[in-house]
Amino acid sequence: MVAFEPRMDAEILIRPLQPEDVEPITAAFRAVRWHKPREQYERYLVEQAAGQRTVLVAFAGAEFRGYVTVAWQPDYVPFREAGVPEIQDLNVLPRFRRQGIASRLMDEAERRVSGRSGTVGIGVGLFRDYGPAQRLYALRGYVPDGHGAAYHNQILRGGEPVRADDDLVLHLTRALPRGAGRAGPPA
Ligand SMILES: CC(C)(COP(=O)(O)OP(=O)(O)OC[C@H]1O[C@@H](n2cnc3c(N)ncnc32)[C@H](O)[C@@H]1OP(=O)(O)O)[C@@H](O)C(=O)NCCC(=O)NCCS
Repeated sequence: MVAFEPRMDAEILIRPLQPEDVEPITAAFRAVRWHKPREQYERYLVEQAAGQRTVLVAFAGAEFRGYVTVAWQPDYVPFREAGVPEIQDLNVLPRFRRQGIASRLMDEAERRVSGRSGTVGIGVGLFRDYGPAQRLYALRGYVPDGHGAAYHNQILRGGEPVRADDDLVLHLTRALPRGAGRAGPPA
C-alpha cells in the first residue's frame, strides 16, 4: 500500500535558529551526506546575536526540515549600497521537498525584510543543481537585478573565464509590500 503524504505539513514551525538546533541540523545533513559543518551554524548564531543575520529554521516537532538566512548587510556591493537585505542559503532536506517548506521559509524571510526594506535580494547559482531554486524564485516574482552574473560577488565582464561552481551567481530582486512585516514580531 502506498502511504498517503499530505501536500502541506500543517505542523511545520518556522522560527529563529537557537543553539540547541545545531546538533539536529548537522546530524540531518550528515545523514544525507551533505557537507554542512557545525561551525557554519555556530557562526550563524554569532552573526544573529550581532544583528548581522537572521536565521530561520523549519521544524516539524523535533524533526529538522530546512532553513534560510537573511544577511542584513550583504557582501554583494549593489545590494549593500542600495540597503537591500539578501536572502541566503535556502535549503530543504531532500525527502521533504515539494511540500511547500521553502515557500514557507521564503514567506517568513520576506515578511521580516519587508519591515525594514521595500526590496529584497537573492543570488542563485547558474548550473543544474539550482534549477529548482531558479524556478521557485521566478514564480515568486524575483527578477534579475540588471548587473548580469557575478563570480565571488564580483560582476563579470564579457569574455571573462569563470568556473560554473557555487560562486557563479545571478542576483535577483523582488519588490515587497512596504511594512508587510510590521504587524508581526520583530525581525
Ligand atoms: C530549492 C529548494 C530549497 C526548494 O525547496 P522546496 O521545499 O522543495 O520548495 P517548495 O515545495 O516550496 O516549491 C515551491 C515551488 O517551486 C518550484 N519548484 C521547487 N522544486 C522544483 C523542482 N525540483 N522542479 C521544478 N520546480 C520546482 C515549484 O513551482 C514549486 O511549487 P509546486 O511544488 O506547487 O509545483 C530545494 O530544492 C533545495 O533545498 N535545493 C538545494 C539547495 C538550493 O538549491 N538552494 C537554493 C540556493 S539559491
